[in-house]
Amino acid sequence: MKGIIVNQDNLNQEWVDLAPAWIKEARQGENPNREGLLDNPMLEACGNVEGLRVLDCGCGEGRFCRLLTNQGAEYVLGVDLCKPMIDAAEEMQSGGDEYRIADVQNMNYLESQTFDLAVSYLNQCDLPDFNANNKEVFRVLKPGGKFIIANLHPMRSATGGWHRSDEGEKLHAMLDRYFEENERRWMMMGVEFTNFHRSLATYVRGFLKAGFCLDDIIEPTATQEQLKRYPQLEDELRVPNFIVYVLKKP
Ligand SMILES: C[S@@+](CC[C@H](N)C(=O)[O-])C[C@H]1O[C@@H](n2cnc3c(N)ncnc32)[C@H](O)[C@@H]1O
Repeated sequence: MKGIIVNQDNLNQEWVDLAPAWIKEARQGENPNREGLLDNPMLEACGNVEGLRVLDCGCGEGRFCRLLTNQGAEYVLGVDLCKPMIDAAEEMQSGGDEYRIADVQNMNYLESQTFDLAVSYLNQCDLPDFNANNKEVFRVLKPGGKFIIANLHPMRSATGGWHRSDEGEKLHAMLDRYFEENERRWMMMGVEFTNFHRSLATYVRGFLKAGFCLDDIIEPTATQEQLKRYPQLEDELRVPNFIVYVLKKP
């Protein structure tokens, strides 16, 4: 990402501001994107986690760490830069999971080749330097280890909005500024915050350059069953909002 000057402290402050609303929503289980759409492909891509040592990059309040622990992972380390998120995660710690306030772009506090699996659940879009995270995860994974990444779909992180009719009907999702790779400002839960947009090619090349093999790409869409439970997911039948990359360290 040439030419981007961002201040990691400011980025972190945005998450500190968002944390109370984020934690409340996660604890109430009211996020259709995660429960309804992303959890299943993420868990399927992780496969059988029994007995595995897992790293969760940008773990938030620890929701996915707890899911992995419940699925039999031996040890899950959740890393997040936002203290309120880690405090909230530690409140629900069950024994197999552990948490650390740290930057996932520099994990020199972790020994090389000590994890079987790493996940990144909607975190790389928050990182000014996603290549640094790829490099670090590659280093701490054992050979044969997988890195499963859920991210905003590059077609949606480019602009995000809908072109609507005068009556407010959603006509088309807009795609613009796709090749302009830099930060985007959004409103989420009443807080203005920053994400980073990169093209699909930039992401895939970054993974390959770090040494990973790309095993699969999943573009989750809603099933009829999911739609019955979460009618809000209807847009997912029209445009891909999210993407899951399945990477493997040879
Ligand atoms: C969209 S939330 C996802 C949280 C969690 N993975 C989930 O699915 O509920 C992104 C998280 O990444 C964290 N984060 C952002 N930049 C980070 C960085 N450089 N290092 C570690 N964590 C970071 C934020 O504090 C936030 O908790």
